[in-house]
Amino acid sequence: MGKIILTGDRPTGKLHVGHYVGSLKRRVELQNSGDFDDIFIMIADAQALTDNADNPEKVRQNIMEVALDYLSCGLDPEKSTILIQSQIPELCELSFYYMNLVTVSRLQRNPTVKSEIQMRNFEASIPVGFFTYPISQAADITAFKATTVPVGEDQMPMLEQTKEIVRKFNYVYGDTLVEPEILLPDNAACLRLPGIDGKAKMSKSLGNCIYLSETEEEVKKKVMSMFTDPDHIRVDDPGKLEGNTVFTYLDAFCKEEHFERYLKDYSCLDELKAHYKRGGLGDVKVKRFLNAVLQEELEPIRARRKKWEKDISGVYEILKKGTERAREVAAYTLADVKAAMKINYFDTAEWLDEQVKKYSAK
Ligand code: TRP
Repeated sequence: MGKIILTGDRPTGKLHVGHYVGSLKRRVELQNSGDFDDIFIMIADAQALTDNADNPEKVRQNIMEVALDYLSCGLDPEKSTILIQSQIPELCELSFYYMNLVTVSRLQRNPTVKSEIQMRNFEASIPVGFFTYPISQAADITAFKATTVPVGEDQMPMLEQTKEIVRKFNYVYGDTLVEPEILLPDNAACLRLPGIDGKAKMSKSLGNCIYLSETEEEVKKKVMSMFTDPDHIRVDDPGKLEGNTVFTYLDAFCKEEHFERYLKDYSCLDELKAHYKRGGLGDVKVKRFLNAVLQEELEPIRARRKKWEKDISGVYEILKKGTERAREVAAYTLADVKAAMKINYFDTAEWLDEQVKKYSAK
């Protein structure tokens, strides 16, 4: 059996460096590793609508933003199929049948759904579509027979839910669906990159993100304003690393070679950290270093974005072709699913033969 990747993002805003270290960068590496037989990257607009029903324009506009972010990061349409979820009706059909395999109480226990309900103040007024999106996500993953799903830590409960659906389906209807594995970032700092204010997560509503599409000046301004150790007042004061956003970002982005290029006084991050802890190392110096490291990573992304922004029709073609191809694959799986459930009455002579025999025996 081949190795197949499926992953995706909701198009509710531009992608930021949290998305990048949490998943995007890894996807590009996996794409270029040649280890996978197929790669599908989904712009999950239908899922975005589950909690943005009254704002379809936001979703509509952000599809292109996300596509541009993908291509800018180095996703290559020759190697990865980029698709738009809502244009693949087979996914809805799969979800509809999977819904019969999941209980309401199981969905209520899904930790991601639970915390999202709290965050959005849904409480008693959760849209049914939102409540059931883990099932639709299981359809996304299984439609492409994905073996590998590279995502952030917050998607772990979705993968668990998908696995349960796969097992249940295969048990009830016979071996049909593929059980996927989650692939998490291997660097702890990348699992949950905090916002520049040190708050738990980057989020557009908190205004604490660094976006992939921001200019050099904007990024620099944000880095220089980052939350550090509030007790590190004078340069000579000893500094704390825990909860110090600048160091968390360095953990996520910095490589040893960066010291050679931008901060020759130190040979590695541990040495820099030790000096900070001891005292005598100012925040500004560390921030300048982080800025250099970040700019090096973001510059090629910006350059590719500029190029793609001049060819929006080209991006449109990539999305259209990718979606068409993905639809063919999903249709195959749906046919398998319906055959396993024996609801393919017109595809073979089996059902008619059965019925004829039954009635002729009367
Ligand atoms: N739920 C994912 C997110 O919020 C987006 C998504 C939709 C997804 N379908 C998917 C991720 C399938 C992985 C696989 O980021």
